[in-house]
Amino acid sequence: MKATAKAPANIASIKYWGRKDEKLRLPANDSISMNLSEVFTITTVEFSESYKKDEVKLVGKKLDRKEEKRIIDHLDRVRNLAKIKTFAKVVTKNNFPTGTGIASSASGFAALTVAAVKASGLEFSERQLSILARQGSGSACRSIPDGFVEWKSGSSSDSSYAHTLFPPDWLNIVDILAVVEKKTKKISSSEGHALTESSPFYGVRISGMKDKLKKIKQALTNKDFKTFGEISEAEAVNMHAVMMTSCPPLYYWTPETLKIILSVIEWREEGLPVYFTIDAGPNVHLLALPEEIDKIVQRLKRIEGIKGIIINKPTEGAKTISTHLF
Ligand code: DP6
Repeated sequence: MKATAKAPANIASIKYWGRKDEKLRLPANDSISMNLSEVFTITTVEFSESYKKDEVKLVGKKLDRKEEKRIIDHLDRVRNLAKIKTFAKVVTKNNFPTGTGIASSASGFAALTVAAVKASGLEFSERQLSILARQGSGSACRSIPDGFVEWKSGSSSDSSYAHTLFPPDWLNIVDILAVVEKKTKKISSSEGHALTESSPFYGVRISGMKDKLKKIKQALTNKDFKTFGEISEAEAVNMHAVMMTSCPPLYYWTPETLKIILSVIEWREEGLPVYFTIDAGPNVHLLALPEEIDKIVQRLKRIEGIKGIIINKPTEGAKTISTHLF
């Protein structure tokens, strides 16, 4: 059977950085994110006796061995659950540059999970899909449910999944993504997670988590954009402090990243409500109110080195679609 899914990337306000179980991808802490409307992956999967081995293709980029194996391992998880041995063809397409800190593994593994599960004949609940997606890439579990999402770290595979906190239209905000680098990053987030404990600040980060999670959930409940933005920004810097102080250190920022950070702080001092957050890469996400889009885009365009601007709204999670890629 053939099936196709579309899944969004997501941006976390409370980040997943470090795991308590490497193999199961159980995160050290709960995380909170929103799905992004304009950065997504579309994936078609077909299981068929006519395939003599798994064929995996990413449109526009050659997958290396490791990436291909990670996808085939995920197909194996689906085959085990569906009790089938059939090989598959997978074609996947991102509408954004892969491996740059726009979460391609999140949208990628969410789309692969939904498409492969459907193509295998299984019928899974949202929770089961999220649990399965997590095993391919942690942040992918948050791209399954709609809108503003919480990933409960859990204590076992079955208790570690994401669910919707609020629907996409709950908080009327935008994520203005400033792309500064389109090249693939040198150290993947998968490798980075394993380094967290080597940072002297990791313990401090984890000890502050509970309180931060409580406060941001409160801010969301109250539709309090200012507090939501302030916590998101401080959290991103907190995570990057751990990254930069791990051994070996991870510097994902480029000079352009820092230029944007400093500009955002300046714009805020001038009265513009805008906050930044950054994942494991140099690109900067600006959280803002829709009425400020033009002003922010104009200002961003004056900063040298910005290669693209993508304006996202909060959106729904991964879904099957009827148009196949092959
Ligand atoms: C910095 O989900 O990419 O984006 O589980 O190894 O695939 P794997 O890691 P991944 O890590 C995401 C890290 C982050 C923060 C976040 O999205 O929460």
